[in-house]
Amino acid sequence: MKGTEMRVVLTGASGGIGQAMAERLAAAGAAVLGVGRGEQPPAAAAQPAQPVGAWVQADLAQAEGVARVAEAASAWRANVVVHAAGLPAFGAMATTPTAQMQAVLQTNLLAPMALTQALLPHLLRRPQAQVVFVGSALGRIGVPGFSVYGASKAGLHGFAEALRRELAGTSVRIKTLGPRSTRTGFNGSAVEAFNLATGTAMDRPEAVAEALLRLLEGGQAERFLGFPERLAVRLNGALGAWLDNGFSKHRRHLEANPS
Ligand SMILES: NC(=O)c1ccc[n+]([C@@H]2O[C@H](COP(=O)([O-])OP(=O)(O)OC[C@H]3O[C@@H](n4cnc5c(N)ncnc54)[C@H](OP(=O)(O)O)[C@@H]3O)[C@@H](O)[C@H]2O)c1
Repeated sequence: MKGTEMRVVLTGASGGIGQAMAERLAAAGAAVLGVGRGEQPPAAAAQPAQPVGAWVQADLAQAEGVARVAEAASAWRANVVVHAAGLPAFGAMATTPTAQMQAVLQTNLLAPMALTQALLPHLLRRPQAQVVFVGSALGRIGVPGFSVYGASKAGLHGFAEALRRELAGTSVRIKTLGPRSTRTGFNGSAVEAFNLATGTAMDRPEAVAEALLRLLEGGQAERFLGFPERLAVRLNGALGAWLDNGFSKHRRHLEANPS
């Protein structure tokens, strides 16, 4: 899909990665409908034009917020959905409050699942459509300190993989983007210190935005950023994408028995 053909609903559009994505997509000629909890998109510094052309204020942790975004995106004739909203969680499992676990799973996993489900009837009517889940290398590689966050992103990768296979043969392509640690407000000083101590590199958000555009323009189903993270992801889950074509029997059964 060319940039000029994309009408992108972008959640997390007010975040560090989301703002870079909005700018890169707009520069490629895409129209962007941003989503965030603020009343309006953050002002784009040093931009000749506002990259986010339209805005929906919504709390995606609430069912009502998900419904509002789905309605606005359908009316706006979106053909691309990028799920970039997310919450961080870092620290020892033993001291992670249950409320934080619930909030992270709600925002990072249940909200994108619910929004995708709500938008599917609309997307299936478009001649071509794409859904990109912004996962994480930490969703494919279990790293101490990120058990809760990693669980939310592993869930997202698993959801995307099954849905991609379920929707093969339709006009909707399901993709995942897996950034590694990235320099945004998402990572507090504790994560920065952890990264320094463990030799973990951090990308600029613009690198993630560029990878998103490549993913949307190309035929790849997944894209992970950075070395050695990409290698670790491959070693962790060798052959996963190769199995994509082995599910036609499963899909036919589902089609014949939809409920
Ligand atoms: N930064 C990293 O190191 C890194 C690495 C790998 C993957 N990722 C993933 O990349 C995505 C973007 O991360 P980032 O670094 O840009 O984080 P960020 O700067 O903290 O931005 C987070 C975004 O999520 C939105 N959000 C959070 N809770 C929401 C809710 N309940 N309803 C609606 N929007 C909500 C925020 O919107 P508000 O304006 O409403 O707060 C904001 O736009 C996340 O999914 C994250 O997991 C990040």
